[in-house]
Amino acid sequence: MKPRVYIARALPEEVLHYVEEHCEVRQWQGTQAITREQLADEIDDAEGLLVTGTLVGDDVLEAGKQLRVVSNLSVGYDNLDVDALKRYGITAGHTPYVLDDTVADLAFALILSTARRVAELDKLVKEGRWRKGMDSALFGADVHHAKLGIIGMGRIGEAIARRAKFGFEMNVAYYNRSRKPEVEEQLGIQYNSFEELLQTSDFIVLMTPLTAQTRGLIGETQFAMMKRSAIFINVSRGGTVDEQALVGALESGQIYAAGLDVYEQEPVNPDHPLLKLDNVVTLPHLGSATANTRLQMAYVAARNLVHALTGEGKVYILPE
Ligand code: DGY
Repeated sequence: MKPRVYIARALPEEVLHYVEEHCEVRQWQGTQAITREQLADEIDDAEGLLVTGTLVGDDVLEAGKQLRVVSNLSVGYDNLDVDALKRYGITAGHTPYVLDDTVADLAFALILSTARRVAELDKLVKEGRWRKGMDSALFGADVHHAKLGIIGMGRIGEAIARRAKFGFEMNVAYYNRSRKPEVEEQLGIQYNSFEELLQTSDFIVLMTPLTAQTRGLIGETQFAMMKRSAIFINVSRGGTVDEQALVGALESGQIYAAGLDVYEQEPVNPDHPLLKLDNVVTLPHLGSATANTRLQMAYVAARNLVHALTGEGKVYILPE
């Protein structure tokens, strides 16, 4: 008999077919993302669950009495209560590797568009405000040869460092909870203390997962340490930054600009003060969102689900 699974989101057709070959599938049909309450109502007989973003903790696991596997369709897994999953003896998977270069590309899109004010100047041209001559009020900042500080040196951090070093000849430093001498040597990058990185970088890219330790990692004190010319980029999770403090730093000129793909609350409230600022470039959390990468991620999540349920094949389980 095929194992019963619940797919709590849309999947590309070919990936859904793959799961259907191996499992008995029920799927969320709502047009909005499933809530945790709806999820709890849906999974009473499911042995496997494929999910993104929705919180999976005690309430959901209690409702899913048959659950053996939870497969998260993202590399970040801050929506999963890892301790609760362990307590219930559930195997949990995620989707590393396939999105590293795509997210690194997007980090660079934000670096370039904040430094060279691409969104703001695009608007100026389209609104017919371009005047003859080169107005120094429109000048931006150089990316090449500037100092890039990366907080969180995982695989995506490395992919960003590679682009910075070999594409833009930047001076690259990183801060991570453990040093990575082999990466330092291979990429020619240096380790900084957290404070030194904040104080000396022209660009600061936050690339750390959201955990109890990193929640609110960057707040008023950290923005106050940055150069007034610093550009702050967040492509990790919104919860790692105190957004009130970020608004304050941007409004007061404490830092020069910010590029954001992620927010404390998503979708971000359209009235959020961050969205009123010209020196902020915003994106709707789509660091991994190219057609190819999203398809690969869906396949990894689907295979994790099937492999963990059948006991055959590789499963990318959550790191400790
Ligand atoms: C991830 O995979 O964690 C990306 O942020 C997309 O959710």
